[in-house]
Amino acid sequence: MEIVHLSAECYPIAKVGGLGDVVGALPKYQNKLGHVAKVVMPAYQTKFMQENEFEVVYDGWAKLGFHNFAVKIFREKTNKLGFDLFLVHIEGLFDRELVYGYHDDTERFLAYQIAVLDWISQWEHRPDVIHCHDHHTGLVPFMAAYCEQFRRLSQIPTVLTIHNAQYQGQFGWDKLHYIPAFDLWKTGQLDWRGSINPLATAIKCAWRVTTVSPSYLDEISFKANGLEDLLAQERSKSFGILNGIDNEVWNPQTDPMLEKNFTTRIVDAGKKANKAALCAVFNLDPEKPLFTFIGRLVGEKGADLLPEIFYNALITYSNQINILVLGSGDSQVEGRLTQLKDAFPGNYNAYIGYNEKLSHQIYAGADFLLMPSRVEPCGLNQMYALRYGTIPIVRRIGGLKDTVVDIGDGGFGVCHDQTSAWDVGHAIGRAYDLYTDAKHVKEIRKFIMQLDHSWDRAAQQYIDIYQV
Ligand code: ADP
Ligand code: GLC
Repeated sequence: MEIVHLSAECYPIAKVGGLGDVVGALPKYQNKLGHVAKVVMPAYQTKFMQENEFEVVYDGWAKLGFHNFAVKIFREKTNKLGFDLFLVHIEGLFDRELVYGYHDDTERFLAYQIAVLDWISQWEHRPDVIHCHDHHTGLVPFMAAYCEQFRRLSQIPTVLTIHNAQYQGQFGWDKLHYIPAFDLWKTGQLDWRGSINPLATAIKCAWRVTTVSPSYLDEISFKANGLEDLLAQERSKSFGILNGIDNEVWNPQTDPMLEKNFTTRIVDAGKKANKAALCAVFNLDPEKPLFTFIGRLVGEKGADLLPEIFYNALITYSNQINILVLGSGDSQVEGRLTQLKDAFPGNYNAYIGYNEKLSHQIYAGADFLLMPSRVEPCGLNQMYALRYGTIPIVRRIGGLKDTVVDIGDGGFGVCHDQTSAWDVGHAIGRAYDLYTDAKHVKEIRKFIMQLDHSWDRAAQQYIDIYQV
C-alpha cells in the first residue's frame, strides 16, 4: 500500500512531544512490512533543514482566501530516515523556527493542508491512504471529499489518528473563506458548537478514526474537551491502537547519548554509571534513589502539582531521595520548580527547557519516572523508561493503564488512581520501600527492559484498519 502521513511534527525534523516520535517511527516500520509510507510535513526552519540535502519536487502556489502563497515541496535526498520525507515550504508562514505558538497558526496549517492536497491531486497516481495526525491536518478528510478543486482525491480513504483530543484547532466562521469552494450542503460537517473545529470535522469525515491507546478510546466517550458525544457517535469506525516505540532510537545498548551503554546482563552497572554521570552534573547523590519527571509542564501532565509533590517528598524522606525534573511549559510551574532548587540543594534539581540528549540520559540514569497525568492518550515516556530499566510511577489512565502493571498485581510499576498530591505522595512512598529491596529492583529492571513495545505490532494494526 502507499500511505501518506500528514503531520505537524516528525522526529528528528521537528518534535514538540510524542506526536513527533510517532510520525518519525511508524512510517519506517510500515515500510519494513513492505509498504510505501511517506511523510509530508511543513518545512520549519529547523537544524534538520539546514544540515540536510533536498531536491525540489513541486513549485507552485497555494491560495488561502484572498492570499496567494508561493509553495515549494522538498524531498530529503538520502531516504536515511527509512521513509520518503517531503517538506512543504510556504513563504511567509513556515520560514520560522517553532512548530506552534504563532498568532497565525490557523492560517499556517490551513495553507499547509491546501498546498499538500493541491500537490497530491497533481500526482499521476493516487495513494491508497491519507493518514492525518491531530487537528493540524484535520480539514484534509473534509477538503479531499468535498472541495471541487480536489475532486480527484475524493475516493481516497482518509484516516485520522487522535493523539490528543484536548487540542482541536477551533476557529471562527469569519475564516470560512479560507477553505476552497466546497459542496455547501456539507457545511455542517465543519461545525462543532458554533466554531469551525478541525478535529471534530476529521472525526466526522475520516473513513477511520484511531486513538493512540485502547483505554483512551474508552475514556474519550466521557471526557474529550467537549467532543464526547461526537466520539461516542462515531465509535463504530474508531479503533484504539497502542503506540510503539522506535527500538532503534531508544536502545540502551547502542544509544550514543548515554554515558554507558548497557543490556540486561549488566543492568546494575549500566544504570549506576549513567546515574553517577547525571548526579555529577546536577549535584545529586548517586547513592540515593533518583525520582524524575520529564515532560511538558501543563495541566494534562499534572505538572501544576509537581512542586507540592516534590516538596512533600523531600520533607518526608529528608535527605534520603533525589529528584530531577526536565521540562518546560507553564511559566508559573517553571518558576515554582526552579525555586525548589534553593530549598533543597543536593537533593533536588531542575532543567527548565527542552533537551533531547538529557532526556535519554535521564531515562537511563533514573530509578523512577513519575507520570501523574490527568490525561494521557498514550504516553511514550513510560515506555522509554521501561526500556532503559527505570521503574514508572503512573496514574492509571489512558495509555499508562495499558502499559504499566502495578507491583501489587504481580507487575513492575507503581500505579495510583488520582492526580492528587496525596495519591502521588503515597506512590512515591511505595517506590521508596521497593528501592530498599535491591534484589527485587534488579529483577524488575531486567524484566521491564525486555518488554516488547516495538512498532512492529502497531504498524501492522494500522495496515489492517486501512483495509477494513
Ligand atoms: P506528549 O506528547 O503528550 O508530550 P509523550 O509521552 O507522548 O507526551 O511524549 C513526550 C516526548 O517528548 C518524549 O519523547 C519525551 O522524552 C519528550 N520530551 C518531553 N519534554 C521534554 C523535554 N523538556 N526535553 C526533552 N524531551 C522532552
Ligand atoms: C500526544 C499525547 C501522548 C501521546 C502522544 C503520541 O501528545 O498527549 O499521550 O503519547 O501524543 O501519540
